Amino acid sequence: MRKRPFQLLPRQNPNFSPTATNLHRRHRTPRKRKPPISSCLVSASQPSAATKPAVSTSASAKSREVMEMEAKYMVGTYARSPLVLASAKGCRLHDVDGKEYLDMAAGIAVNSLGHCDPDWVEAVTEQAGTVTHVSNVFYSIPQVNLAKRLVDCSFADRVFFTNSGTEANEAAIKFSRKFQRHSNADKKEVATKFISFTNSFHGRTMGALALTSKEQYRTPFEPVMPGVTFVEYGNIEETKQAIVSGMTAAVFVEPIQGEGGIYSATKEFLQVLRDACDDAGALLVFDEVQCGLGRTGHLWAHEAYGVIPDLMTLAKPLAGGLPIGAVLVTERVAAAIRLWGPW
Ligand SMILES: Cc1ncc(COP(=O)(O)O)c(C=O)c1O
Repeated sequence: MRKRPFQLLPRQNPNFSPTATNLHRRHRTPRKRKPPISSCLVSASQPSAATKPAVSTSASAKSREVMEMEAKYMVGTYARSPLVLASAKGCRLHDVDGKEYLDMAAGIAVNSLGHCDPDWVEAVTEQAGTVTHVSNVFYSIPQVNLAKRLVDCSFADRVFFTNSGTEANEAAIKFSRKFQRHSNADKKEVATKFISFTNSFHGRTMGALALTSKEQYRTPFEPVMPGVTFVEYGNIEETKQAIVSGMTAAVFVEPIQGEGGIYSATKEFLQVLRDACDDAGALLVFDEVQCGLGRTGHLWAHEAYGVIPDLMTLAKPLAGGLPIGAVLVTERVAAAIRLWGPW
């Protein structure tokens, strides 16, 4: 039976994402002056945090105390909203003064079960009292169980776990390069380059950042990983030309873009990516860190399109608020990794 038609997610406020603050301005802040805290929802086009008052004047004494400590002790990478949250339940949040808020952001698509879901609390508490971290040199029962569940409900044959979405994309970058080396072992030069798209966001570590289109995220940290070409999201002709046999290792795409605005791909666009990757021997990576895990009404956003990737990256709601990421891969990709160990 066909699944019900794909529906767009409600449009989010693009300014709500944690925007990197103007680091070089902050750097010049005189040591004794308190670094400022910006007011709510600062975007790159708004006045810089450095011109804003130190602490929101409307904040309570309790809130101000926390904001001032944050400004004093933490590295200023986020333009935070002037809201100090103390507790939460379901879709409601409470600040330090007991004021209630309806949580429309869910930690930017992280707390998909709501806050402090009773089953989640029970599972986390039970596991915390049993065993938490074990090194990757040993086996872990919950890790293997989760891998099986992800395989059972997806296109993938195998899973690799990380701590975040950006690391999942880093792993996908490395897997793609290794896959190309393995598949073209007889060739002198193998494909090492990547295609990404306008309005994309793939994370803040150096490889994932190189795949992220927003220049203001990348420029302060350049040089980032070379070899990335950005193509207009949805532009079929440009995309076909950009994916080149022997050059393109992989194409990274969000089936529905989150951070860049809620732009959804068309079926035709994703199908063109699939076909062009197959023709060129490139891998197709779906970044479902933000659009996956049930947010579209399907478990995976790509289900609505009927186009299957070679790799899919996940994170955000996978552990209901605890840090986790994953790369799901086909056997063909996994085989190239295994044969070429060690990492
Ligand atoms: C599509 C997408 N990919 C990757 C990431 C990075 O995930 P993380 O913040 O867990 O590193 C995000 C985060 O917003 C995202 O939206």
